[in-house]
Amino acid sequence: MTEILYAKPAIDAELEALKSRTAKIKQEHGVIPTLRVILVGNDPGSIIYTNSKKKFCEKIGADCEIIKLDESVEEKVFLSEVDKLNKDMNVHAVLIQLPLPKHLSHIDTTNLVLPSKDVDGFHSENISRLYRNDKSETGLVPCTPKGILTLAKHYNFNFASKNVVIIGRSLIVGKPLSLLLTNLDATVTLAHSKTHNLKDLCLRADIIISACGKPKFLTSDYFRTDQSQIVIDVGINRLPNGTVCGDCDFDSIKDQLSAITPVPKGVGPMTIFSVAQNLLHALENSL
Ligand code: GUN
Repeated sequence: MTEILYAKPAIDAELEALKSRTAKIKQEHGVIPTLRVILVGNDPGSIIYTNSKKKFCEKIGADCEIIKLDESVEEKVFLSEVDKLNKDMNVHAVLIQLPLPKHLSHIDTTNLVLPSKDVDGFHSENISRLYRNDKSETGLVPCTPKGILTLAKHYNFNFASKNVVIIGRSLIVGKPLSLLLTNLDATVTLAHSKTHNLKDLCLRADIIISACGKPKFLTSDYFRTDQSQIVIDVGINRLPNGTVCGDCDFDSIKDQLSAITPVPKGVGPMTIFSVAQNLLHALENSL
């Protein structure tokens, strides 16, 4: 039987622990963990994601406000907003929701938020910790890769000595995930749009993680039929009819596999869960 790796049981198992950590910080330090999310413009996906982040933070007793900036906001106003939040002692974590509108897309946002408040884990200082396999656990790990590890832990599979193919080399998912899994002793192949033999790579892999943003791109011929492979689908793609699907053609491949994450209700909520974990981690580091 193929196992469907839903996020909810993994999150529910950890929810009370997050609530307790929030309550402990409040009780011992009189501080409410506080996240500020900067949302520029009206991208429908970004509005949904930021609202979900706010809702989940509130569920664990933390404070999250979405700072909405106009689609046409001037670059200097945007930058000064980030600067203000960096300097605000009562704000413990800051997230700039991506993508930014075209006129701001030239800005390299990775190092804008202070590394100590970098809830996304994108800052060079945090990425450098992953690169060096720093074990001190003070760094903030990018949310989607971190969420994938939480999911794997809950469903009792690990990456050590596994052949893992990651499809997509983004700064948000593919590249940090390749470092994280290498540190966990996986043998990682980081594939991308210019990879020639993707089908062969997938057929030989133990675990396939897709983050390429192509709806239903991975069809049944990319996978073995012996229910020995695990597929983690990071894609959240909107079809013309409004429905959401992943990078995998879920219905046609699921029976071939050992396990697969659904879209929606798979990796997406795990990313949001990691934002809340990183918020608490950022604050705990500073106390
Ligand atoms: N847009 C899509 N995913 C993400 C993410 O993980 N962080 C930010 N800041 N923006 C995103």
